[in-house]
Amino acid sequence: MKQNKQKIDWDNLGFNPLPTRSMWKGECVSGDDWINGKLIPYGEISLSPAACVLNYGQGIFEGMKAYHTAKDRIVLFRPDKNSARMEKSTERMCIPKMNEKYFMNAVSATVKDNADFIPPFGKGSMYIRPICFGVSKAIAVQAATEYVFMVFTSPVGPYFKVGAKPLHLYLTDKYHRAAPKGIGNAKAIGNYSASLYPGSEAKSKGFNDMIYVHAKNEKIIEEMGAANLFVLCGDELLTPKLGGSILDGVTRDSVITIARDLLNLTVRETDVEINTMLSADEVFCCGTAVTVTGVGRISTDKKEHVIGDGNFGEKTLQIKKKLLQIQKEEIDDPFEWIHPLS
Ligand code: PLP
Ligand code: COI
Repeated sequence: MKQNKQKIDWDNLGFNPLPTRSMWKGECVSGDDWINGKLIPYGEISLSPAACVLNYGQGIFEGMKAYHTAKDRIVLFRPDKNSARMEKSTERMCIPKMNEKYFMNAVSATVKDNADFIPPFGKGSMYIRPICFGVSKAIAVQAATEYVFMVFTSPVGPYFKVGAKPLHLYLTDKYHRAAPKGIGNAKAIGNYSASLYPGSEAKSKGFNDMIYVHAKNEKIIEEMGAANLFVLCGDELLTPKLGGSILDGVTRDSVITIARDLLNLTVRETDVEINTMLSADEVFCCGTAVTVTGVGRISTDKKEHVIGDGNFGEKTLQIKKKLLQIQKEEIDDPFEWIHPLS
């Protein structure tokens, strides 16, 4: 693996795609298995204007990270979970079913070939974006017959540009992101286009992002556009249960385990009422891109609510610290989450 790092301003990384050396590209026709693929130079791809993904949104993706750790190794965090979720997303979106062997080989090959773009220990991480989409031409609404799977990477820093400040989020029932029995629990690109307008409205009003409520029961919360939510009430940590319309986050699952097994908190996956969240001691969001980020204020259309004392909560910081320490191999990994590539 390439050990000498690229000349990149590692201290000022944002969450933007930077070009790297190579990317994975594989192809599959419906009815076949994912077998073929190889690394090609990083760059543009060409598509027909009638490609299914461009017209009918038949596309899915994953989000994972590679770290250069305290043990001077390159590692992935729980890639088996991303592989399993991509398999589920392919099935829900009528795409040939992904398999773990193919997915892991493509991800590992791409990360290894671009290892010199992984930020040095303590300077960020490499975001890995596997994408899969229908490319054959369609005008009638139907699933494609030809598909492409790609993996590209980028060195990244923090997702939110708030520096060391907790988030100020906007909660409204004016928009829904996903619906029960829809595709909210798949990592389908359409879920993200649904969140663009509400997300930009929230940002134009000065908030960092949106909190979505459940489409059928608007009294309970769901998640954000790119992260799951947790609410601490006393010694109880609550998170919306996986009802089909929210994403089964890898970080969400890791937070639940850390909170239960390492911090002795009671964790409940349940319906979380808006009022419970607004009067909670701590609120935080979590995801691969956002890691664990504390929420200081939540505004509804009526009022601004300060969470706790408006700063990062104590348990939020403890959970974040443990998660990052495991990911960066600064402490032992009691759960066997780390997947070394070197
Ligand atoms: N919810 C949504 C809508 C997301 O896009 C993400 C990010 O992937 C998450 C939750 C968190 O999932 P994970 O922890 O697997 O990154
Ligand atoms: C991730 O955290 O990996 C995500 O997929 C969120 C993304 C939309 C930035």
